[in-house]
Amino acid sequence: MSQRTFSIIKPDAVKKGYAAAILADIEKAGFKIVSIKKISLSKAQAEGFYHVHAARPFFGELTEFMASGPIFPMVLEKDNAIADLRTLMGATDPAKADEGTLRKKYASSIGENAVHGSDAEETAAFEIGYFFAGLELA
Ligand code: RTP
Ligand code: MG
Repeated sequence: MSQRTFSIIKPDAVKKGYAAAILADIEKAGFKIVSIKKISLSKAQAEGFYHVHAARPFFGELTEFMASGPIFPMVLEKDNAIADLRTLMGATDPAKADEGTLRKKYASSIGENAVHGSDAEETAAFEIGYFFAGLELA
């Protein structure tokens, strides 16, 4: 059944000029891009997005990084989109990511790992609503 998920091309990948290549890989993997934009987050906005990690030791570093430059948030659609995007992304640490995954190809470290993808239906719903209004999701 068709499902929506939420993804971000993170600041490291945008800075390195990988955005178009990552989008091409995402489309080749069968995802339809429902909506996409280019924005920069404030530190507070990054903290709101990653609030589930607020107690983690890396929270400050993570939210500084996510506010460090422009990102491309997007909503993607395909059958089994949430799990399939996580597979396409690869492991959080690019050193542990499988060959051919986005993080293996485009990421340099666990902190600067090129892409985000929702990890469950509830987080996808929260994350889509955090970045996109209903009118942008036709
Ligand atoms: P994301 O949410 O960005 O898609 O990444 P993920 O699900 O693969 O990993 P998650 O556990 O949700 O962690 C969010 C981001 O925090 C950074 N992190 N650093 N230093 C560390 O041990 C550590 N662990 C996680 C990563 O940048 C990760 O993407
Ligand atoms: Mg996560």
